[in-house]
Amino acid sequence: MTTSTSTVCLPGVFRGGAESRSQLSAVESLSQSMISTENLDLLPERGRAAVLSLIESDVDSSQSHVYGDWPEAGTQDEGKKRLSEQLADLNASYPGGLTDYLSKARTLLKESADGLNPFEEYEAIVPEGESLSFDGEGTMSFAEAEQLGMEAMSGAVFVLVAGGLGERLGYSGIKLSLETNLCTNRCYLEVYVQYIKAMQYLARQKTGRDDIRIPLVIMTSGDTDPLTRQLLKDNNNFGMDDDMISIVMQDKVAALKDGNAGLALDGDDRWSVQTKPHGHGDVHHLLHREGLVDKWEKEGRSHVVFLQDTNALVINSVVPTLGVSKAKGFHMNSICIPRLAGEAAGAITRLEHKTDPSKSLVINVEYNQLDPLLRSQGECTGDVADETGYSPFPGNANNIIIEMGAYAKTLRGEDQGVVLEFVNPKYKDESRTDFKKPTRLECMMQDIPKLFQKEMKGTANVGFTTFDRWFTFSPAKNALEAGVEAADKGSIAPGTMSSAESDKYIQNQRKLKFAGVDLDVTEPEDLVKVAGIPVTPGPRIILAPAFGITQEEILNKVKGNNKISKSSSLVLDGHHLTIKNLNLDGALVIRAGSESHVTVDGLTVKNKGWELVENDPSKEYEETVAIRGYTMAKHESQEYIINEPGNFVIGPDGEVKKVD
Ligand code: UTP
Repeated sequence: MTTSTSTVCLPGVFRGGAESRSQLSAVESLSQSMISTENLDLLPERGRAAVLSLIESDVDSSQSHVYGDWPEAGTQDEGKKRLSEQLADLNASYPGGLTDYLSKARTLLKESADGLNPFEEYEAIVPEGESLSFDGEGTMSFAEAEQLGMEAMSGAVFVLVAGGLGERLGYSGIKLSLETNLCTNRCYLEVYVQYIKAMQYLARQKTGRDDIRIPLVIMTSGDTDPLTRQLLKDNNNFGMDDDMISIVMQDKVAALKDGNAGLALDGDDRWSVQTKPHGHGDVHHLLHREGLVDKWEKEGRSHVVFLQDTNALVINSVVPTLGVSKAKGFHMNSICIPRLAGEAAGAITRLEHKTDPSKSLVINVEYNQLDPLLRSQGECTGDVADETGYSPFPGNANNIIIEMGAYAKTLRGEDQGVVLEFVNPKYKDESRTDFKKPTRLECMMQDIPKLFQKEMKGTANVGFTTFDRWFTFSPAKNALEAGVEAADKGSIAPGTMSSAESDKYIQNQRKLKFAGVDLDVTEPEDLVKVAGIPVTPGPRIILAPAFGITQEEILNKVKGNNKISKSSSLVLDGHHLTIKNLNLDGALVIRAGSESHVTVDGLTVKNKGWELVENDPSKEYEETVAIRGYTMAKHESQEYIINEPGNFVIGPDGEVKKVD
C-alpha cells in the first residue's frame, strides 16, 4: 500500500480560487495520485522535470498508472529513477516532447475510434506522371530519361532507410547484411554502396570532373544501429570513403495502451514504458535536425534519393527517374509499378479538394483507403482495373527522389520535417477504446507532400515514374513459410529472400536479352518451385553495378553473338569489361579492376556449373540458410579476376592476353 507523506503543487494545475468544474475534477483526480516530495527528490534533475511535466499535462489522469501509486522512498528507487530517465529521453527525442506526442495521440485515437474519414473533402484522380519501359514503349524515351538522369547524378545524395525490425522476414540480424544472391554472396548494403560508387565513377567520366563525390546516409534505429556500424567496419565501408557515409539513428516512441493514449508500461517491469518504432517518416526530421539537408544545399547538390533496405532491383530505375524529375521539374517523384486493382499496395493519387484548390495534393493513398474513396465518387466503381488490366493509379514502390531546394525549404518550415502521423490500433471490441496490444503513432516518408503543400503554398510539383515490376521491385520482406503460403494461393510476389534473388537473375536475363544475347528469359509459367517458392530455373546472371546499370552501358558492353544456356551462372563485374561472342554453358565469373580494360572475344565455357540444393526438412540450418530454403553447390566454374591496369583479351582458348 502506498502512503504519500507530502504532495507537490504543480504550477498550472493547482490554481485555487474559482476553478471551473472540470479544472476541479482534474485537480481532485490528480491529487489522489500525487507523487510524494520524497520520491521526487530522489530523481535526477531531468527525470524529475519529465515526471512533473507528465503530471502537469495529464488533466484526465490517463497517465496516473505511470506516476501514481509509487511505493515510499527507499523502496524500488532504482526503478523510479530509471522510469524518470526514460520519460526524459522520450521527451527529448520527440519534437515538442512527450506532452506533444500524447496530445497528438489522443486526437488521432479519437478520430480513429469515431471512424473519421480523412478524405471526406477530397476526390481521387490519377496524377500526372511518366511510364518508362527498358525494353518496350513508354510515355517518354527511356534512353532520353537515362541521359538526363545521368547528367543530374553528380548532384545526387542517397539515403537508405534501414531502421525497420523486419519482423515479417523473421531474421534476427539486420536485413542489410543478408546476401542478395548466392552467386556473388554480396549483401544488400554492399550492393547499394557498389552502386553509388559506380554512379560516381560514371558521373566523373561523363563530366571529366574528378571531384564528384556522392554521399550515402543510412537511417538506423536502436534495433539496427550497432550491427549496421559493425557491418560497415568489418568491411571497410565496402570501399566508400569514411566522410561520404554517415548514419542517423531514429528513436522509438512510447507505446499506448488505450484510447486515452495511456502510456503502456512493460508487463514485467512497472518502471519501464514500452516503446515501438515510429516508422520511416522520421527520416525527414532527422536529416533536418542533423543539418545534412542545409549542408547539401550549400554544396549545390540537387536531389535526394531515398531507398529501402531489401529491394536490390530498384537501383536500375534511379537514373531514369532522376531524368524524369529533371524533365518535368518534379519536386518529388515516386518510383512506381503497375498496380493490380485491389492489390495491397499504396497508390499515388491526386486528391482534389472539393472546395479549396489550395488544399489539393498528390500523395500516397493506402489501398484500404483508396477503394472506399473511389466508391464515394463518380460512377462509384471503387478500386477497379482499366482497359490495361491494371488500376489506373500507379502502385507505390516507395523509393522517392526529392528535389533539394523544395526539400530544404519545406524542412525549414514550422513542422521541421515531422510528417503527419497516423495511428492504427487493433481494437479489442466494438467499444473501440481498448486495444489487443499496445499501439503507437507512426509516420511514413511518403507522406511528406502534406508538408510540401503547407510550406510551398500549392506550388509543389509531385509526380511519379512507373516501370515494369521486373525492372524495379522485388523486396525480401517475408519469411519462407509466409511466402510459401502466399505462393500456394497464387501470389506472383511472395516477397521472400528466394523470390528476390530469382527476380534479380530474371532482371539481368531481360537486360542481356535486350542487348541481343541468345538466352531464355524466364516467364511466369517457366518458374520452378524450390523450397516451395517459384524461382527461375536459370540462367542465373549477376551484372555488378560497375559492369552496367544503364541501358547505354549494357548496349556498349555486350557485342556480337553471345549465347547462354539455361543451366548457366554468370557474374560480370568491371567498368571496362566487354563481352563478345561468348558461348556459356556452365559457371563463369569475370571481374575486372577499374583500370583493367577486358574484352571477352569468342570464349566458350562448358563446365558442371552451379546448382541450387534445397534444404533437407529433417535438418537444422543456420538462420540465413533457413530463410532462403536452399544453398548453392558450386560444382565447377571458370573465374577471371584481373586487377592489373591495361588492355586484355580473353580469347577462344580461355587464355588472358595483354594487348597494347
Ligand atoms: P518495412 O515495410 O519493410 O518494415 O519498411 P520493417 O519494419 O522493416 O519490417 P516489418 O514490417 O517489421 O516486417 C520499409 C523500409 O523502411 C525502413 C525499413 O528498414 C525498410 O527499409 N523502416 C521501417 C525504417 O527505417 N524505420 C522504421 O521505423 C520502419
